[in-house]
Amino acid sequence: MKRRKFLKIAGTGGVILAAGGISFAMTRTPMAALEPWKTAGSLYTDPMRQALSYAILAPNPHNRQPWVVELKSDREAVLSYDPNRLLPTTDPFSRQIVIGLGCFLELFSLAAAAHGFRAEVQYFPQGEPGQMLGQALDQRPIAHLLLAKEAGLAANPLFAQTLNRHTNRNPYDTSRTIAGGLLQRLTAGAGPGLEIGTVNGGKRLADLRTLTRDAMRTEFETPEAFQESIDLMRIGRTEIEANPDGISLGGAFLETLSLAGILTRESLADTSSSAYRIGLEMSDEAAMSAMGFVWITTVGNSRTAQIAAGRAYMRAALQITADGLNMQPMSQALQEYSAMAPYHKTIHDWLANGAGERVQMLARLGYSKDVGPAPRWALATRLKDS
Ligand SMILES: Cc1cc2nc3c(=O)[nH]c(=O)nc-3n(C[C@H](O)[C@H](O)[C@H](O)COP(=O)(O)O)c2cc1C
Repeated sequence: MKRRKFLKIAGTGGVILAAGGISFAMTRTPMAALEPWKTAGSLYTDPMRQALSYAILAPNPHNRQPWVVELKSDREAVLSYDPNRLLPTTDPFSRQIVIGLGCFLELFSLAAAAHGFRAEVQYFPQGEPGQMLGQALDQRPIAHLLLAKEAGLAANPLFAQTLNRHTNRNPYDTSRTIAGGLLQRLTAGAGPGLEIGTVNGGKRLADLRTLTRDAMRTEFETPEAFQESIDLMRIGRTEIEANPDGISLGGAFLETLSLAGILTRESLADTSSSAYRIGLEMSDEAAMSAMGFVWITTVGNSRTAQIAAGRAYMRAALQITADGLNMQPMSQALQEYSAMAPYHKTIHDWLANGAGERVQMLARLGYSKDVGPAPRWALATRLKDS
């Protein structure tokens, strides 16, 4: 029997280039882990691998990069996911994993179109798994992908932002407000069964800052939830290069703390340690510097709705990049574990219209105040034939 060919996609993590020690930061840059950001679109000539080499740069929760692609031909493939890359504690129904797969599908489609191919994406070709909240994903595929050559297909201008987009977790510039016109471009991305909301000031902005800060604090204070993140942390260049996925703690500042023995997986889990305190302060500061928020809601919470939310998030993130803004999802309040229940309720009271509506994504917005090289939580991923 002919061996099936899988395209496995391995991951990497992001890098924080903290202020100071730029030359040190440069030498500590995980070059191999960043490679896929440089080679996207240029390593392959066949349309399927070419489009996939961009799709693997999609945002995804905790940078788990759960995608697995089975290549059928240069024009046909099946997308599924790696069950070992789920986040059972903070994402118990894999809702966020599916959103990340939606981001992947959107970037795949944008990349294909930019190269003259229309992507025909059929979701859940063997049926939609876990339609009810509380049902897990199963091993049925996420999507069937077919590429069709189409003359005169116009590239979406957002595609040009693919390599510039990153999640920026640093504090934003609180002296720069976000113009209402920029937010209108985001809300225009709504579609049937999917709404996009925004705010750039007033009580709602203040309330969302506080709520996202408090929800994140609650994650820090919930050992099993925080441990899930700690287990996925790659501390310093060597760890990032060895396991280029998960949450990268790199760059001059954090690498120095690591070398000094202050930043370790054990110290992060110890609520009396300075590593824990520094982490909490950084997270508080980030939330309170939000100069706007964008959120995506869907009618119902089907797997298809989650994919649609991911596709919309991908487009919003590219639009935000095009407009010179930065963004960071602040997902804790949307998560379905018991410690988050009060935040989950409040956020739905505030942002959802009606009982059946579900807030799928919430992200803070702002201008970067970083000096020197742009801060990159620069993930990269690799295509691997196996
Ligand atoms: C569904 C979803 C939820 C996410 N939630 C968070 C979050 O709560 N906090 C955060 O800092 N990043 C969050 N992210 C961003 C990912 O961590 C980020 O996309 C990933 O690390 C890859 O980095 P990049 O976006 O810079 O390419 C989320 C992304 C997705 C798709």
